[in-house]
Amino acid sequence: MATAIKLQGDVPLDRIDVTDATLWQQEAFAPLFARLRAEDPVHFCPESPFGPYWSVTRYRDIVEVESLPDIYSSSWEYGGITVLGDGPTLVEGEDPMPMFIAMDRPQHTAQRRTVAPAFTPSEMERLSGSIRARTSALLDELPRDAAFDWVDRVSIELTTGMLAMLFDFPWEDRRKLTTWSDWMGDIEAARDPVLGPKRMEAIWEAGGYFMKLWQERQAAAPAPDLISMMIHSDATKDMTPQEYLGNLILLIVGGNDTTRNTMSGLAMTATDYRDEWLKVAADRSLIPTAAQELIRWQTPLAHMRRTTKVDTVLGGKAIPARSKIVMWYMSGNRDEELFPDGERFIADRPNARRHLAFGYGIHRCVGARLAELQLGILIEELLDRQLLPTVVEAPTRVASSFVHGYRRMMVELRPI
Ligand code: HEM
Repeated sequence: MATAIKLQGDVPLDRIDVTDATLWQQEAFAPLFARLRAEDPVHFCPESPFGPYWSVTRYRDIVEVESLPDIYSSSWEYGGITVLGDGPTLVEGEDPMPMFIAMDRPQHTAQRRTVAPAFTPSEMERLSGSIRARTSALLDELPRDAAFDWVDRVSIELTTGMLAMLFDFPWEDRRKLTTWSDWMGDIEAARDPVLGPKRMEAIWEAGGYFMKLWQERQAAAPAPDLISMMIHSDATKDMTPQEYLGNLILLIVGGNDTTRNTMSGLAMTATDYRDEWLKVAADRSLIPTAAQELIRWQTPLAHMRRTTKVDTVLGGKAIPARSKIVMWYMSGNRDEELFPDGERFIADRPNARRHLAFGYGIHRCVGARLAELQLGILIEELLDRQLLPTVVEAPTRVASSFVHGYRRMMVELRPI
């Protein structure tokens, strides 16, 4: 009932709760965010399935929160980076698994430095050949005259394979990465009495598997995969098993759901905004901008959360210490001040790269270049074949206010 009222859009301001999973499953949140940006851009929601929280919905306020990490903490000790947690002891069954996205300085700086070398321009150059070869082979195998699930055949296959390469993960087991990642990013399951323990089981299964890989790599010579890099770096070689596992989870979820759902967004935009993609087909120099616009349009992580360490003021509102602050990238990326007609995909949008989908400041996505590379190659290879996907039935969406994405999407490949 509460949801029905919200979907009508006439709910009183103080009852707006944008964490409601149904809103996300039905892609029905846009009018609520538009209203919050206009009427109450820093908005307190006193009651939600995740407890009381503040919504930050305007671009410039999100940038302010991200720019002040000493006030707005990412630390798991306060509850971490999704709307879910209240602190490690308060989420039942949820063992703390510190990862550097959920750490403050100075630990964050040291651990981020360890994985950053895997994402330098020269590493991207090194990886681009194999990414292109895999993308090309995959596109050649897709049906030309029948509908198929783009999420499974393209988005999952390409991103999971990419991660397997980064970790030098056993190829035949690569779909385990998908399963684990889905469980880990599922903040709805985490609260469910039946699914919650299953989720933890999956996380520990991943832990056991990676621990085995860790031991094998420890005994081997240094190699350019991420596990070996962590083993041989001063900042991470003495990590506790929980920290090690936490950082791997971070890389799996960070690199998986996000790029995957942006690839699925490509099929959505190729269906609803085909003329925009035809512009790109006619002028290939637009590909980097179109890829950024795609990431802005999809915004595959709808939010990140912070916790105030001290009393503060944001957008004129007094916010007490220990408040949950949810930065809605999904809303910042539609902020009319920066992105006029923001609900539309506009392939040559001049400022597309100013989007917030990768975050901002010290935690800005470390894998952004890799995501851009993968997306750029997928677009190029599709256009080389003069093909674009067309969605042929309504997709099934993820019911979550964290991962903004799709579970299933039937498409046909059609000539441009
Ligand atoms: C379109 C694809 C992607 C999107 C939209 C995305 C989004 C994000 C966001 C929103 C953050 C948090 C930023 C903040 O708190 O300010 C983040 C951090 C991170 N991402 Fe990504 N990501 C993507 C791809 C990837 C890939 C491919 C990887 C690695 C394989 C990755 C690894 C990470 C890591 C390790 C962090 C933590 C950085 C830190 O705390 O310093 N991401 N990402």
